[in-house]
Amino acid sequence: MDSDPDRLAIEGGRPVRAAWLPYGRHQVTEQDIAAVTAVLRGPWLTSGPHVEEFERALAARVGAAEAAAVSSGTAALHLAYLAAGIGPGDEVVTTPLTFAATANAALYVGARPVFADIDERTLNLDPAAAEAAVTPRTRAIVPVHYSGRPCAMGALRAVADRRGLLLIEDACHALGAVSDGRPVGSGSADLSVWSFHPVKHVAAGEGGAVTAPARSDLVEAVRRLRNHGIDLDSRSRAGWAYRIDRLGYNYRLADINAALAASQLGRLSENLARRRALAGLYQRELARFAELRLPAADDAGALSAWHLYVVRLQLERLSVGRAEVFAALRAENIGVNVHYLPVYRHPLYERFGGRPGLCPVAERAYEELLTLPLFPAMTEADAADVVAALGKVLRRYRK
Ligand SMILES: Cc1ncc(COP(=O)(O)O)c(C=O)c1O
Repeated sequence: MDSDPDRLAIEGGRPVRAAWLPYGRHQVTEQDIAAVTAVLRGPWLTSGPHVEEFERALAARVGAAEAAAVSSGTAALHLAYLAAGIGPGDEVVTTPLTFAATANAALYVGARPVFADIDERTLNLDPAAAEAAVTPRTRAIVPVHYSGRPCAMGALRAVADRRGLLLIEDACHALGAVSDGRPVGSGSADLSVWSFHPVKHVAAGEGGAVTAPARSDLVEAVRRLRNHGIDLDSRSRAGWAYRIDRLGYNYRLADINAALAASQLGRLSENLARRRALAGLYQRELARFAELRLPAADDAGALSAWHLYVVRLQLERLSVGRAEVFAALRAENIGVNVHYLPVYRHPLYERFGGRPGLCPVAERAYEELLTLPLFPAMTEADAADVVAALGKVLRRYRK
């Protein structure tokens, strides 16, 4: 093996780490396992008392009046749009810097996602760009708290109110984030959408939810739509009859998943504190690299949930592009990732008006983005390996 510690692994050197470090990973404790096995020994496997218990706990944690749990964040987006009455001919204004599900769910209901550009500093939907994208067909604005950093919700609420639109936040990255001094989910949006995919703050296997800050017919509609459109009142009556008066789906969350989610939710504060500590370590240790632009500090009254830690490569200071830096870091066993190709650049979106150059700020950011490993079970030594590998790679490729 090469004795030169500066030789990149991709060029035949010794990798900084012997074992792969992923960008995100769930954490399951013995307590989680006990919660799930108790369900397996009980009378209910699919939606039952644990779903209701999880809904109550989630609503309390995010400061919502009510919650409806479903089978995934994608299902939650689909049903939030359906419940809001969004349909064929309608438009939904959203950010291009998100997982495709935010926009795909608009296509599910026959609506058109319209992409408005992001703010250069926060990488979140720019309220002015969102307002400029509103047309008479627009029904909702759907911001995404990218990487866990809360959006400018006050400004977006003002746009929605001026234009008579719903504000539906995709909060899949932002469980536990704070915006304008209040938990995300308790404040400005009409509906909030959550995901409990394993890399998220609460890992349910698969799972999602729609919450509302005030009592809402929309959440009631989500409950009905997740279960084939079955009328809950007729179902709870003693007889055999039930009524279906709208087309619903099977998007039920199982009690098995709900028990895991509830157990994980109990550790959310711990999870957030660990993510914040690791992000703080990165902020301090990476500040010396002029080839990196680090995430901006939290705004006053805001706290990021640090779902992702995303740096931007200062490409003018490097002799190679992002692809080479990415490959070199992966060869060092650092599982960097990229979130996200602007959604409209996927070939699917060519049919829906997607074309290069649509959102220039998002496109320029995309060329530079690099997600570093960040998850609660990571150790300081793991984070030090990431810093060391970045140092090694940036020294090699610096201009
Ligand atoms: C921003 C965003 N929206 C929606 C989703 C969809 O969630 P799920 O994977 O639970 O369907 C995800 C995640 O995976 C996401 O990151």
